[in-house]
Amino acid sequence: DGDVYKYYADGEWKKSSSNKSVAIINPTTRKTQYKVQACSQEEVNKVIDSAKSAQKLWAKTPLWKRAELLHKAAAILKENKAPIAECLVKEIAKPAKDAVTEVVRSGDLISYCAEEGVRILGEGKFLVSDSFPGNERTKYCLTSKIPLGVVLAIPPFNYPVNLAVSKIAPALIAGNSIVLKPPTQGAVSALHMVHCFHLAGFPKGLISCVTGKGSEIGDFLTLHPGVNCISFTGGDTGIAISKKAGMIPLQMELGGKDACIVLEDADLDLVAANIIKGGFSYSGQRCTAVKVVLVMESVADALVEKVKAKVAKLSVGPPENDSDITPVVSESSANFIEGLVLDAKQKGATFCQEYKREGNLIWPLLLDNVRPDMRIAWEEPFGPVLPVIRISSVEEGIHHCNASNFGLQGCVFTKDINKAMLISDAMETGTVQINSAPARGPDHFPFQGIKDSGIGSQGITNSINMMTKIKTTVINLP
Ligand code: G3P
Repeated sequence: DGDVYKYYADGEWKKSSSNKSVAIINPTTRKTQYKVQACSQEEVNKVIDSAKSAQKLWAKTPLWKRAELLHKAAAILKENKAPIAECLVKEIAKPAKDAVTEVVRSGDLISYCAEEGVRILGEGKFLVSDSFPGNERTKYCLTSKIPLGVVLAIPPFNYPVNLAVSKIAPALIAGNSIVLKPPTQGAVSALHMVHCFHLAGFPKGLISCVTGKGSEIGDFLTLHPGVNCISFTGGDTGIAISKKAGMIPLQMELGGKDACIVLEDADLDLVAANIIKGGFSYSGQRCTAVKVVLVMESVADALVEKVKAKVAKLSVGPPENDSDITPVVSESSANFIEGLVLDAKQKGATFCQEYKREGNLIWPLLLDNVRPDMRIAWEEPFGPVLPVIRISSVEEGIHHCNASNFGLQGCVFTKDINKAMLISDAMETGTVQINSAPARGPDHFPFQGIKDSGIGSQGITNSINMMTKIKTTVINLP
């Protein structure tokens, strides 16, 4: 039926033979907004077969031609930013302006990827044997970077377009094919994005997008013998995937509990502005959101006052109005956040605002005097609720940050660059931001988490390299 968005395979839009669909609930209205096909395992098999054969030809396509097609896709994506952003607003309740930014940023990412690819994939190494003990100059070694094959891309709901292209573009420029499994919330935005690649004229079968239930095709995809690389962004599922995956390269980003350490000499206005941006943009639904503030007791009152004043100014409402705080992605997410809030209340946290919720909409909330026995001190709310823990020494802050299972990013605010560097070295996270909130971008910067926050490093250059293998040819002289 015409109401169900088709999936994309073999360069065509198709209906699933399962005759089943998956509903996408609009987080704001809590009503079904769209439906997508529930693809079957058989359809996944076909998609992976096509991806395999399309990749063989694609790997032989000149690098400059691959880059040209990517530039074309980037331009088409940017031209269509308005309708795609509209889907983001309806599917994931992303504020209207941020939704447009996500699409434009994605176009830029694709173009940068094409440019970076032609440079770094266009060069290799030349080694001679006589630098290693016992060897004469009789062996010449040439290295090049070759594609892995079929790359499976699984992005999360919070950036269904951007975190999809951050996997698709590096994979394609490096000569791989792509099988995309978008998140259910965000699937229609992703299908529109894939349509831009379709219009750009990529070969049939090189890119496909299968939609459906994780329970039906999730494990089937990640365990599929035809998949040669998995790039995943999301939650705990990533840990399960990594435990089961075969001998293939994995790239994973699985969330964080990014700490914001505030020293006594910090510029408190700057800190407050960054706590608002870092903690509350997209209602805290970012892996890199500030998720715990660790502030020196002597400046805590002043900082909390400044943040409170700014929280009061945040607009709360539907994403169509470009409100700062919009409904969280699902009812179960809202219930989880509420659970953390109630636990903190029961254990005596100070509520800087009244807790308020209507449907999936949760008003921004700052919790002061949070202690380590409260769940919110450690768990990731993925919502507009931010705990403040008062510390009496910098070491206490570093200790709290490092005791977390996560290690994505962190930030430190101080005017003393020497102290900032020492704290950065001591923080067990993939990135430390000095005097700014955590963030993944600009998208060519390396992006990585340690511990439960991930495997490998992303960012354009690192992703291109990760999606290739080194191949060497040795010329043996007589
Ligand atoms: O939550 C996904 C993560 O990649 C965050 O990206 O751009 O919001 O820092 P960003």
